[in-house]
Amino acid sequence: MKMTLIAGSNRKAATSTILLRYVESLLKAQSLSVTFVDLQELPLPFFTPDNQELHPNVQHLLDTVADADGLVLATPEYHGSVSGVLKNALDYISAGQVSGKSVLSVSSAGGPMGVSSLLHLQSIVRNLHGVNCPEWISIGYGSNSFGPDGAPLAGGMRGRIEGAVGNFVELTRMLAIGAAAAAK
Ligand SMILES: Cc1cc2nc3c(=O)[nH]c(=O)nc-3n(C[C@H](O)[C@H](O)[C@H](O)COP(=O)(O)O)c2cc1C
Repeated sequence: MKMTLIAGSNRKAATSTILLRYVESLLKAQSLSVTFVDLQELPLPFFTPDNQELHPNVQHLLDTVADADGLVLATPEYHGSVSGVLKNALDYISAGQVSGKSVLSVSSAGGPMGVSSLLHLQSIVRNLHGVNCPEWISIGYGSNSFGPDGAPLAGGMRGRIEGAVGNFVELTRMLAIGAAAAAK
């Protein structure tokens, strides 16, 4: 199975991106194929419906999303919502690239939790006809520091992340099996 991970911050030391790298390590430990798209390293022009010619960075994003069985979207909590760079990236994506695929949403907040951004993210996923993972991951102050191995230091947080990632992988597997059976 192929997973595409999108880091939705353009801040160099973004905790949401460090968290997503940890999710990546858990997926790779299961020998899954992972493509990591970091929007800090892959800047995208502002989306416009008028733009007919796609920037190569946009094309790369769309190719990796279309190729994936499952997606993980990471965002910092900005004013109770997702970051502008992630929303901009998602505006390029259409339902045909996401429909029926599992999507795990993760966030990092300055407050205790980033639930508003996660709700907004899940609403966008629903509008792209993706299948929201029943679990999500939110880190906030007190839980957004990481050890040298990239794992969160907060007690219990690592287990919750591992549980959510495990459920996401299982959902992706079930949807992939269902899609393959329907295609026969
Ligand atoms: C423009 C802006 C808006 C923010 N709005 C919120 C907010 O509404 N709620 C919150 O808990 N934190 C808010 N924060 C703090 C960030 O969520 C927090 O610093 C988070 O850890 C950033 O993630 P990052 O490390 O991936 O950049 C905001 C930060 C910025 C820059």
